[in-house]
Amino acid sequence: MGTAREIDAVDYQTLERQVVSLLEDENDFIANTANFAAFVFHEIPAVNWAGFYFPEAAGLVLGPFGGRPACTRLPRDRGVCSAAFGSGRTVIVDDVLAYADHIACDSSSRSEIVVPLMLDRTVVGVFDVDSPIASRFTQRDARGLERLIERLLERTPFPERYKASRDVSRSEGTRIKERIDIHTCRNHHVVLRYLVDEIAKAANDPASIAPYLARLRSILLAHLNIEDNWLYPQLARSPNPAVRSKAERYTREMGGLRDGFAALWVRWGDPGAIEGAPEAWQRDWQPFERAMSARMDAEDNDLYAAAEAATAETA
Ligand code: SME
Repeated sequence: MGTAREIDAVDYQTLERQVVSLLEDENDFIANTANFAAFVFHEIPAVNWAGFYFPEAAGLVLGPFGGRPACTRLPRDRGVCSAAFGSGRTVIVDDVLAYADHIACDSSSRSEIVVPLMLDRTVVGVFDVDSPIASRFTQRDARGLERLIERLLERTPFPERYKASRDVSRSEGTRIKERIDIHTCRNHHVVLRYLVDEIAKAANDPASIAPYLARLRSILLAHLNIEDNWLYPQLARSPNPAVRSKAERYTREMGGLRDGFAALWVRWGDPGAIEGAPEAWQRDWQPFERAMSARMDAEDNDLYAAAEAATAETA
């Protein structure tokens, strides 16, 4: 397992040169993708799986990889690999446990990065890397892995059957990605409402609230992350002016909820804090819960509904 220092020290320029020499005398597709996956698996620290998925009629099928045996088939438009494949964009998931649309192949994976294999505008597969450490992958890894993949694609002729697979115009990719994001956000709301209900039921047993609050935290952070980094920026670029102005308004208002939770967590995140002062906890929790629930209702009925209508219009 890699330390934080080793992770920061990954030298992608050197890895790029090594990939070039690893592949230079060979152009067989299986030989090169197999060696590429094994190379990344061994050379990049804190990684428990690295491998390819390629398109087929029903979704994606497993290709060469390093690590434990993995799921052989990923259904179309489900999971992180399909999100990268459908959008033609690299996807980073900081916490797979809090990402409703993740397909779990190995319970030791905590974070994931998936890089699409782009030949011009055609996606011919994806390269998926998993880590046992949450938030393992950054934009630096994304750019580094994308460059390694470019070197592979330059040197390796891909089978024709993959090239015909999907011509991702940016707009189609963006629409697919928006639909996946909205679906994931709605799923997060379902889990958050369940946790709010459990916390309400536990009012007479304050000692049992802490695990629900910890779970709520991980879902809420993942949710705000998707909204911040993917959903709102995409909706703010929508061709539909009503969606654009809603997205801008919701983005402005979002900070309040994030700060509200941060304050709640500072005060009540420590073990034993809630049971030590249950009335004070309720006084802090209830206004936050009301604000979060109102916000989720507004998003479900207003923002997400408008966004879904807009993606359906242009589909
Ligand atoms: N997690 C992936 C499935 C592949 S495994 O991680 C090897 C996904 O959600 O698409």
